[in-house]
Amino acid sequence: MIQVRNVTKRFGAKTAVNNLTFDVQPGVVTGFLGPNGAGKTTTLRTIVGLVRPEVGSVTVNGTKYHDLPAPMHEVGALLEAKAYHPGRRARDHLLALAQASRIPRRRVEEVLGLVGLSDAAKRKAGTFSLGMAQRLGIATALLGDPPVLLLDEPVNGLDPEGILWVRKLMQALAAEGRTVLVSSHLMSEMALTATHVIVIGRGRLIADSTIDELVRTSSGSRVRLRTPMADAVLPRLQAAGGTVQPGDDGAILVSGLEPKAVGDIAFEAQVPVYELTRLEASLEQAFMELTQEESEFRGQGSEGAQEGHGALPSSGPLPSNGGEAPAAQQGWPAPVPAQGWPAGQQGGAPGAPSQGWPAGQQGWSGPA
Ligand SMILES: Nc1ncnc2c1ncn2[C@@H]1O[C@H](COP(=O)(O)OP(=O)(O)OP(=O)(O)O)[C@@H](O)[C@H]1O
Ligand SMILES: [Mg+2]
Repeated sequence: MIQVRNVTKRFGAKTAVNNLTFDVQPGVVTGFLGPNGAGKTTTLRTIVGLVRPEVGSVTVNGTKYHDLPAPMHEVGALLEAKAYHPGRRARDHLLALAQASRIPRRRVEEVLGLVGLSDAAKRKAGTFSLGMAQRLGIATALLGDPPVLLLDEPVNGLDPEGILWVRKLMQALAAEGRTVLVSSHLMSEMALTATHVIVIGRGRLIADSTIDELVRTSSGSRVRLRTPMADAVLPRLQAAGGTVQPGDDGAILVSGLEPKAVGDIAFEAQVPVYELTRLEASLEQAFMELTQEESEFRGQGSEGAQEGHGALPSSGPLPSNGGEAPAAQQGWPAPVPAQGWPAGQQGGAPGAPSQGWPAGQQGWSGPA
């Protein structure tokens, strides 16, 4: 287990890590996420004592890194892919580290095999591609067979087979009861790899939860209800705290309510239900929502991307969350106010009644 407590680290005027507190539990892969410059690498370096924070402390299994009697057997870290002498052969790089930590030679061969570098063991590490360097870095981290692993963007530069391999490796290591903290910018990969995530922005903690929880509480997660009697159920959904928008296929998209609540409300309103589906946001959507105010560095024209898939036309192809994109991503109008759909929105007829859906709007009043 890793315990980060009230850590603050400044570089001159720049506060890289700001009063950061979190735990990393053993037994699951924990993703460490945040925009560029958020402070992920600085935090990881703090855990292994390469950075000394001005305030706060970090312990690994209850002990500060500097006080660990055999650090390579306690914590394995991949912080920099090319942290080796370029003129040294891959095997010799590992051998030197092994000998310094009294690790037997056969473990070097083991980790070379584990990361798929046995055939390249005699090559000078300086000739390695980025993906090969990452593999050597992972081999280095695993050398002491440590119960705690820190991996900073380990899949950066890996081919698809390599990415899949790292995913399975991390999950297998966690399943053995190890603590695995891994940073990445590949949200889809993180969603497949990690169970828990810690999200930081500008050095501060933004989220510390399971991916399931993060995605469920994202405003991008909604419930799709299809009924031929939308008018009857709409005010009830809003009264229960739901935010309601039209889907482009005539269904109602409800955010802020669970499918059970939407189903109960439809039942109480005695409307036929043709479809009731949970639409989960992607981890990427949840991440964008959490960090859109926290990105220090934005490319020109990336404002839409900050909202997830801003380049999508409103009637264009939809993301893979079941056929709907969150409101902000499709240029939809603001959420429906307390009573009904405002006149004039989405082609609604001017002067439409203040209750329910206006005439002519996406076929809402007709059967779905
Ligand atoms: N040695 C240093 N000297 C000065 N500033 C630093 C140093 N190391 C990090 N910083 C600054 O601290 C901030 C956090 O950097 P860090 O590398 O921890 O971010 P990160 O979350 O790992 O970003 P990325 O996703 O780009 O890897 C950045 O503004 C960075 O410029
Ligand atoms: Mg970094």
